[in-house]
Amino acid sequence: MSTTGTPPPVDPEAAFGTSSPARHSPLPTTPDFDPVGADKIGLSPAEIDQFRELGFVIKRGLIPPDEFSPILDFWWQQPPATIANMVPNDPGTWVSPGRFWPGDNRWGLTDNWMGNQPWPGPDDPRPGASQGERVGRLPFKLTQDRAEDVWRWHGIGHDPDFVSVSSAHPRVLHMQEALLGGPVKRPRRNRGIYAVFPRDPLEPSSLLGPHIDDNPVELMGVIILDDIKPRGGGFTFFPGSAQALYPTSAQRLNWVATGQSTEAMEDIKTSIQPLEFTGKAGDVLFCHGLTVHSAGLQESDQIRMAAILDFNKVRERGHMRWTAAGKHDGPRINTDMDGLLTISNSEDDPADGFREVTVQWLSDSNEFVLDRSPPVEDMFHDWNLGQQELHGHIVDEPPWWEKYNLPLLPTGNIPRGGGGTPAVPLSSIADYESEGRWRVPLKANEWMKR
Ligand SMILES: [Fe+2]
Repeated sequence: MSTTGTPPPVDPEAAFGTSSPARHSPLPTTPDFDPVGADKIGLSPAEIDQFRELGFVIKRGLIPPDEFSPILDFWWQQPPATIANMVPNDPGTWVSPGRFWPGDNRWGLTDNWMGNQPWPGPDDPRPGASQGERVGRLPFKLTQDRAEDVWRWHGIGHDPDFVSVSSAHPRVLHMQEALLGGPVKRPRRNRGIYAVFPRDPLEPSSLLGPHIDDNPVELMGVIILDDIKPRGGGFTFFPGSAQALYPTSAQRLNWVATGQSTEAMEDIKTSIQPLEFTGKAGDVLFCHGLTVHSAGLQESDQIRMAAILDFNKVRERGHMRWTAAGKHDGPRINTDMDGLLTISNSEDDPADGFREVTVQWLSDSNEFVLDRSPPVEDMFHDWNLGQQELHGHIVDEPPWWEKYNLPLLPTGNIPRGGGGTPAVPLSSIADYESEGRWRVPLKANEWMKR
């Protein structure tokens, strides 16, 4: 295995993008643009050609909507909907619910922060971090993005029933193998349900924010959970952008941006016509993990409901992407690909292991790939894309939270839809070497030897 050294650590919540706006306004993915075969499981030759060239395929009606409709009924019973008095089938109640949302919520959480503490609010004292340091993702993440109110329900993303009708639905697993090729990792979680609400038309219109996420994911997916019309907030993506970015990365399986990546991103935003993923409930978009994407433009009176999915092959994995909160006003520090976290310019004791560390728990793919080799000529050389018969080569790889024995699933009185990985003490996941160097033991591949 060749290596390209150890890239500088990156904040796992970071995204890769540049500040200039996208030049083109998105066009909808109406079915008349679909290659032959969109309504059938598997990949037609035309779909394989499209994926190789543009890095995406849309499968219409892949999941029967009645399989996930109970989860949508459950959605309406959750605090972000009830606190805003939102009622199904009454669109007048769906506009800008953020007016009713608390500035900070701790719904669906148990007292397991740093072992047994409540997840802190912005004003709470923090023995393991500076006051006001971010807590990372919440099971009910509520934001007011640009123009719209958005509820990202990450907590439902690890609900086994939801996973079984979304990321790990048998028809989705079939597509995962048809695209990536086996052995594929059976997804154990996804990012959850993302709802983008109608906005008051007097508010300013939204803008695209093109980026790629900084986590190592080979294939992304989006499930439409309720019909989405043009300008209805559909997931927006830049076809062919993965092909433009891939050769600029220092590694083929871990995204490591270079100066060329910045140039490529600028070019993508000016030269590529973006598409907004519109369609009916049960339609699924699959796209390469390096596809530049953005929250969609929401100008409709409907709630945009979609699930965002991560897929990977089974590979030897590297370290998790940990981030340590600043303490005593020191800076936030992230682990590198060697699992090394170096506290160098902090005022406080660098050997102090009672320091909050967190992971970006909404993702199923929090671990780097162990292989650090550079990009190759054909970015799809180890994908399937029509090269092999399907064998159902789906592997029950343990998820990262089981490998590292971390809390994630709701426990005790916490209902489904809650939970999430709290901060744990640095000393519980890493060993102190010397001079501010903390090293995380790698536990990613022990399951392969069992
Ligand atoms: Fe993103």
